[in-house]
Amino acid sequence: MCGALRVTDSGSKAVLMGWVHRRRDLGNLLFIDIRDRTGLTQIVFDQESNPGLHEKARQLRNEYVIAVIGTVMKRDAKTVNKNIATGEVELVAQELRILNESKQPPFLPGDTVLPNEEMRLKYRYIDLRREAMQRNIVLRHNLAIAIRDNLSAQGFFEIETPFMTRSTPEGARDYLVPSRVQPGSFYALPQSPQLFKQILMISGFDKYFQIVRCFRDEDLRADRQPEFTQIDLEMSYAQPERVWEVVEAFLKAAFKVAGHEMETPFPRMTYDEAIRRYGTDKPDLRLPAMTNVGEAFNKEDLAALALSAKLPIVALRIPKVGELSRKERDDIKPLFNGKGKAKLFEDFKRLEKSFPQAAARIRENLGADGDDLIVLVGGDGSKSGDEAKPQGTPPDHAVYTTAGLLRLALAQKYAERHRAFERTGDPARDFRFLWVTDFPMFEYDEEAQRWAAAHHPFTSPHEQDLGRLESDPGAVRALAYDVVLNGTELGSGSIRIHRQDIQRRIFCALGMAEEEARQRFGFFLEALEYGTPPHGGIALGLDRIVMILAGAESLREVIPFPKTARAVDLMVDAPTPVSEAQLKELGIMIRSG
Ligand code: AMO
Repeated sequence: MCGALRVTDSGSKAVLMGWVHRRRDLGNLLFIDIRDRTGLTQIVFDQESNPGLHEKARQLRNEYVIAVIGTVMKRDAKTVNKNIATGEVELVAQELRILNESKQPPFLPGDTVLPNEEMRLKYRYIDLRREAMQRNIVLRHNLAIAIRDNLSAQGFFEIETPFMTRSTPEGARDYLVPSRVQPGSFYALPQSPQLFKQILMISGFDKYFQIVRCFRDEDLRADRQPEFTQIDLEMSYAQPERVWEVVEAFLKAAFKVAGHEMETPFPRMTYDEAIRRYGTDKPDLRLPAMTNVGEAFNKEDLAALALSAKLPIVALRIPKVGELSRKERDDIKPLFNGKGKAKLFEDFKRLEKSFPQAAARIRENLGADGDDLIVLVGGDGSKSGDEAKPQGTPPDHAVYTTAGLLRLALAQKYAERHRAFERTGDPARDFRFLWVTDFPMFEYDEEAQRWAAAHHPFTSPHEQDLGRLESDPGAVRALAYDVVLNGTELGSGSIRIHRQDIQRRIFCALGMAEEEARQRFGFFLEALEYGTPPHGGIALGLDRIVMILAGAESLREVIPFPKTARAVDLMVDAPTPVSEAQLKELGIMIRSG
């Protein structure tokens, strides 16, 4: 391979095959860097010793595919290239075969400036030749193998589930596949193998896993693709802690392959605590938690500041930001969106002048250093919004989540400055895992004016909360959990309902009539009636794990053939219209507009 030769190979004959990476023509000496997945080797064509070969080599252009036979020679100390592994040697060519020519590509794998992403995606095969992409794809392979081996060693069976199936209950839109033999009927591509894996528990495969493609037609972001890969698993008779152990073990194995030792078990935090301390259900533990400092202010202070006494006053501390100019303080304001219900105090120094006692207490409470940035977010006391609504999100949550978003925006804005404060000094390598537990069972859908399943309708409620299922659905906690890494949700799972009577009550709480439930999930509800063991599981996004370990900003950097934000594959140009004949065969008519 092109990255293999070392000084110890000097004097031996070698055959290299690969792409012409770079070409330097010095007249009587022609240097070609030959490249493959493993690296580069310099090849020398010398006019004096072999004029015919030299002439042939002068035809070579970027990205030609060649085979070269030559002798490995040690380079002079002066010409050693310390930047590449083969840099102490070169191959003096004796034979050259041009295996294939190449048109001049729109960009080169060795270019230091990347072309725009559209170009990269259209010519993905050239983009994938780049060292960074090759590294990411190899990392993905290594992680998948490590995870597969680990789960197999833990007693899990990899079992395939269908892609052509019925709608699954994950809440996104389905991709549909029309049936030719049953005109007017459609398969749905699975949003996840959720119901099949539960049925596998009923089928007696007590430990299932699958590294599996899932399909969701939803609005795309940097960490969302329409087709993506889950590490999906399910186990019978498991409590949440047992599922967490399994996940920690395979993540540990995967991170080890990528060169990181991690500590297990991961810390755990309830959903409620995550909201109060981090303002989000996926806390980034690399930054200090938020603190409710409401008690630092007395009644008069609150009135003077027009802050609500019933809502929290959340203090954010971003370490090592240093003194901010007036302009810099003003720049904080656009990062804040209080939606008219929460107020921002970005100038702590000014607050300190008017409310010295409260400010001193806050400083002490936060353990803040002089150069830490402190900002406060409190509920607007001039609004009546602090009255708890009978349904939906509690108003204190709104203050916490507003503050949580600001916390992240500030951390990002000042990332360079507070980096020194990080545990390892390199935030990209500082992996802080967390289990978030006890999610609420239901979320209130304001638009539809009804409760919706926060995870999916087969998630088991807490046994202690069953009594509140009908009277106070908002207070029912689910046996649902997420695994979070540095502010990203890596995976989500739950213990499932295995009892028919509880399942019926959940559908009822969701406002789903028995008939509707039968129609959507009848096959599954029937299966539940035939001796279902208690069971639970989880699914983690493989793409997200690779993205974080690769230090990439987007899933597109770790998926070989991804789609754009508009769900288009630019290389193959999909989706496309199909012929009238094909539509006719499927019994489909396209409605315009
Ligand atoms: P959930 O819908 O939370 O749970 O998905 C699990 C994990 O899959 C990843 N993921 C995605 N990755 C890339 N692009 C997407 N569009 C995308 N959507 C989800 C995330 C997420 O945490 N059946 C349940 C799991 C279970 O209960 O066992 C499920 O699919 O990393």
